Amino acid sequence: MSEADIHFDFFAYLKAAISERPDRGSVTYGDVRAEYTDGLSGRADIVVFDDDGAPVFIVEAKRPDGDGSRETDPYSADVIRQAFGYAGDLGAPFFCTYNEKRLVVFDAFEKGVPLLERSQKSYIISDPEEFADTLLDEVADLMEGDKNWDAVDDVFIERVNTLHEYMSPRVETELENHLNEDEDFQSDFEQWTAAQGIEYDRDDEDEREEVQREFAQQAAYLIINKVIFYKILESSPTYSKDIDPLVPRPSHVQEDLEEYFSHLVDEVDFEAIYEHDNIYSEIPLDAVEGKLRAFILELDDYDLSQFNSDVIGRIYEGVIPADRRRAMGEYYTPPAICDLITRLTVQSSDDTVLDPACGSGGFLVSAYHRLHDKLPEPAGGHEHILSHLSGVEINRFPAHLTAINLAIQDLSAYTEWVDVEIKDFFDVKKYQKLGGREMAGAGGTETEEGLGDQRGGYDAVVGNPPYIRQENIDDKDKVRNHLSSDEIDAEDMSSYSDIYAYFITHGTEFLADGVDFGFITSDRWLDTQYGEDVQQFLLDNYEIRAIIKFDRQVFDDALVDSSVVILRRQSDKSERDSNVAKFLRLKQELSIDDIAAIVEEEAEPNKLVTNDDYRLVTRKQAALHHEKKWNVFFFAPPLYFDLDAHPAVVELGDIAGVSRGITTGANPFFFGHTDEFDELGLEPYSTHALKATG
Ligand SMILES: C[S@@+](CC[C@H](N)C(=O)[O-])C[C@H]1O[C@@H](n2cnc3c(N)ncnc32)[C@H](O)[C@@H]1O
Repeated sequence: MSEADIHFDFFAYLKAAISERPDRGSVTYGDVRAEYTDGLSGRADIVVFDDDGAPVFIVEAKRPDGDGSRETDPYSADVIRQAFGYAGDLGAPFFCTYNEKRLVVFDAFEKGVPLLERSQKSYIISDPEEFADTLLDEVADLMEGDKNWDAVDDVFIERVNTLHEYMSPRVETELENHLNEDEDFQSDFEQWTAAQGIEYDRDDEDEREEVQREFAQQAAYLIINKVIFYKILESSPTYSKDIDPLVPRPSHVQEDLEEYFSHLVDEVDFEAIYEHDNIYSEIPLDAVEGKLRAFILELDDYDLSQFNSDVIGRIYEGVIPADRRRAMGEYYTPPAICDLITRLTVQSSDDTVLDPACGSGGFLVSAYHRLHDKLPEPAGGHEHILSHLSGVEINRFPAHLTAINLAIQDLSAYTEWVDVEIKDFFDVKKYQKLGGREMAGAGGTETEEGLGDQRGGYDAVVGNPPYIRQENIDDKDKVRNHLSSDEIDAEDMSSYSDIYAYFITHGTEFLADGVDFGFITSDRWLDTQYGEDVQQFLLDNYEIRAIIKFDRQVFDDALVDSSVVILRRQSDKSERDSNVAKFLRLKQELSIDDIAAIVEEEAEPNKLVTNDDYRLVTRKQAALHHEKKWNVFFFAPPLYFDLDAHPAVVELGDIAGVSRGITTGANPFFFGHTDEFDELGLEPYSTHALKATG
């Protein structure tokens, strides 16, 4: 479809929607004109007027799939400037840039704010006809002040995602061409995929396309990230004097970027961010360099210092498809959870912290803040703190983000070293120094006498291990290999265990006595058969300080099936048995300090405290050896505990044979809906025992 068709179609939709319903609250729409020139130095694609003939908004429409030489991106500075110019000439309060897939509305009257940072609201469009009607309402609401503009960081993320959407398919085509034309590159690519454990058979069309698509997405993402990070450094007083402003020459963008980046690594460092497998830089970027260059220049209009590490993480979420992230057992941990766990496990400014599945660094950033707060003299502590943080991550991209996220915590200080290793945690050996340089692909500095010997192991291990069900674990033998080590002796761990169970067992090898291990994970281990082995492992190796669960309303459902576990390594059995374990169920959102106070307060065993905010059950650890399903501590009604303690009550299995009955398949009969449970007055205890479908 040509550009003209796009804006004529949209024009026709707007016209029809207005004649259907001109009155939209604060605005009564009137005429709509296409190719409007009156009083303009150019030709505005669409102008929408109110019923008094005053312009309300103008639309500049561009094709979404242009050839790169034309401006086709609604965030492109040139398109925005053009549309803004028309809005200014006509006195229209709003202008929009549109490319059939996306429309962005801008506030034309905002004074003193750079154009690209103007209030804006972005829409993804699936049906332009339907959207034309929506747009009229939205603009009327914006006029009335009833609609919020997008937050500045959302705007930036949308902008970056749009660029990534533009670049990925073009890089994919370049990759395919390059593979066809250059046999050496083809063999490098095949070797590289094999080394990454990626199955890639060029004769299998589906597989070939999938691998190449993903690779292209990652390559596009990497280059965008490097550019953004360079510009962040460029705007920081500490680094700006050491690096040249990033202004690649037209038609030499790829070559110039390589130069800028290698100069940065030589002069300043950040190897972890800028150096990785050469294979990424071998793809020609000719098809995207115009757009990339325009983006680089456009970044001068943003105040990058306002974007924190959360923004970088969200860019990653936006550009790497969700199903891909899910397949890797990856997703982000809410910052409040990271903060809760580091608050309960990191005790002093000298603590060393390991996250064995660090993703994009949520826990390490949280630990950074915790160490920072604990430092007697926080100023200048950046290097000290970074030297106390270590991460392992199997996937290159989140690992790259961790490095960026940690480095940008203090841009007034130099970052010499970010200790994030790209490795399968099950290949990392106890007391092996984790080498940040390994991640940079620049040699690696592993040594057998590393952090462990120097510092006596980590002082805290934290994280959100992946959730990968046993049937999907690739190499179970490798993952289970450590179970027979003298240190942990867990050979009997059920082979039905989800991978997080092995993160717990292997993580244990990195902990000395008295050290805390805090993580969030699926709570299946609290009521499954394999979970009993996990429970036993904890009882045999740790003082269980607290297990924390969250009711539906606390984290909007996101964490109902998860639990936070806070442990302290303890080799002395009598100490373990006399420990009082806490089962805390949060019913309302509480501050981290309040939760920490409940966990840290000394408690008597066999207590049941229930109030509007939480329910707390305490048990002496010795008593837990006889409990199979620990979920009862969170959900059973008080009567259960009374009955359980009664000498006349025994388990059914002790007096009768218990076996599985006939499977009826009559699910509607057995599965309830949460709403029905409410109506039947079965809350608050029984919904967890009954199967609910929503
Ligand atoms: C649930 S996510 C952790 C998210 C992280 N806490 C964050 O907020 O970004 C689990 C992470 O473990 C990584 N992972 C999966 N298997 C791994 C392994 N065998 N070794 C190391 N990391 C692994 C995944 O790539 C993913 O980033």
